[in-house]
Amino acid sequence: MSVTVRVPAKVNVQLAVGPLRPDGFHDLANVFLAVGLYDVVTVAPADELRVTCSGPDADKVPLDPSNLAARAALALAARHGREANVHIHIEKDIPVAGGMAGGSADGAGALLACDALWGTQASREDLLEICAELGSDVPFSLVGGTALGRGRGELLTPVETGGSFWWVFAVADGGLSTPAVYGECDRLRADSFVPEPDPSPALMDALRAGDPVALAGAVSNDLQEAAVSLRPSLRATLDAGTEAGALAAMVSGSGPTTAFLVSDEAEAEKVAEALRSSGTCRAVRVAAGPVPGATITVG
Ligand code: C5P
Repeated sequence: MSVTVRVPAKVNVQLAVGPLRPDGFHDLANVFLAVGLYDVVTVAPADELRVTCSGPDADKVPLDPSNLAARAALALAARHGREANVHIHIEKDIPVAGGMAGGSADGAGALLACDALWGTQASREDLLEICAELGSDVPFSLVGGTALGRGRGELLTPVETGGSFWWVFAVADGGLSTPAVYGECDRLRADSFVPEPDPSPALMDALRAGDPVALAGAVSNDLQEAAVSLRPSLRATLDAGTEAGALAAMVSGSGPTTAFLVSDEAEAEKVAEALRSSGTCRAVRVAAGPVPGATITVG
């Protein structure tokens, strides 16, 4: 017997970062949009906890107990007084360490899959609590759709969204460490007043209207300058997407994946082709969102 769960990637259409908190995190106004690029997580009974991974970037995924999927299985097992004897297999399609919540997706996927495999029947609240312990972005991977994350990003409220938005993603060579990008953001702002983060009313209106042009005028990412500071080559990728006609060009979360908002699928293919031939990125993907969060497909 096995259970399979499909979990989407995310892009942040607003990532407003407040001052550094005493616990080392930052308060956020973080508007997540789940997009149709997926990791697929399958769990099956085994003699001991084991994680395997397949896909073009599988060699970049840590398979030790730091893997969020392994940590999710251990957290659920501990709550229910059982062993986490399970083989977790991840079919990885979300860019690794790219600012698209790939690790968080695997954590949410493993949690939902183990809950079904073991019949633990954890409540939605319990699952969300475990997700929040695993990482700031993990609750959103479970929930999907469009949502505003407050606190460190884990306190979610759904955001009404009136249509589907098309995106092109340019995958950079290598990853960026999320703590390093937040650290660089603090360093760059050391001499400035940093206000408490608030969701943008114009962004909420654009999402509700399903209007990509209005959304393009309202997207923002406070981590972008820090990501570009640590990886200056991202500037050329952002410029290539803008020159190709993208409505908006931004770093996805903490990067280094860059995200380009376009008006429709045909535009997406056009911008994708231009980015592919620009020589400024390693791979290019097209996806639309919002899409549902972690979903059981087999089991
Ligand atoms: O919660 P998660 O494990 O994904 O966070 C990774 C790191 O990103 C944290 O250790 C912290 O350095 C940074 N972070 C932050 N503020 C947030 C979320 C993450 O400073 N709201």
